[in-house]
Amino acid sequence: MPQPVTLTRVDAARVLPLRAATLRADHPVEEARFEGDEAPHNAHFAVTRGEEIIGVGSVLRLPPPGRADPRAWRVRGMAVAEGARGQGIGQRILMAALTHAAADHNTVWCYARVPAINLYLRAGFAPIGEVFELGDNGPHLLMMRAPGPI
Ligand SMILES: CC(C)(COP(=O)(O)OP(=O)(O)OC[C@H]1O[C@@H](n2cnc3c(N)ncnc32)[C@H](O)[C@@H]1OP(=O)(O)O)[C@@H](O)C(=O)NCCC(=O)NCCS
Repeated sequence: MPQPVTLTRVDAARVLPLRAATLRADHPVEEARFEGDEAPHNAHFAVTRGEEIIGVGSVLRLPPPGRADPRAWRVRGMAVAEGARGQGIGQRILMAALTHAAADHNTVWCYARVPAINLYLRAGFAPIGEVFELGDNGPHLLMMRAPGPI
């Protein structure tokens, strides 16, 4: 029988290994830490199957680039283990992040990797501007979700 899949809010330390392995594969794990990871108002979510963490994502309070919106939130570090992708786990983590942000003010933004754009479009994010290269992390798109029902 397949093991149940569970989503829980966790400490930053629990999301770091999968975040680093997925998003910063050729870099030391420490480079996958984000500013604000440890701040108590920010949240990290992990999806587990049995003992294994198969999906992670974080939501951190941060104004979007070029906008004075100190109460906005950034979704960051979305990563699902390769064999578990395309089954709705990423969407589940994203919904948990949006729900956390909605508790006080829910303008949410992200730099979406181009292959992940549909995930954010489906959750109500809109593209802002053009695709650009984000460091050595490949093409990204700034996307933003206006306050409103999830
Ligand atoms: C992006 C990611 C977190 C989505 O998790 P998921 O569980 O696969 O997503 P869901 O099953 O809920 O939704 C499927 C959507 O995820 C995205 N997706 C699926 N496989 C993907 C992949 N290999 N790389 C990037 N995005 C992917 C697509 O937007 C897809 O929608 P589409 O099939 O309509 O194009 C996951 O695929 C992943 O870890 N990818 C590699 C790392 C990455 O790109 N992270 C996002 C940074 S913004």
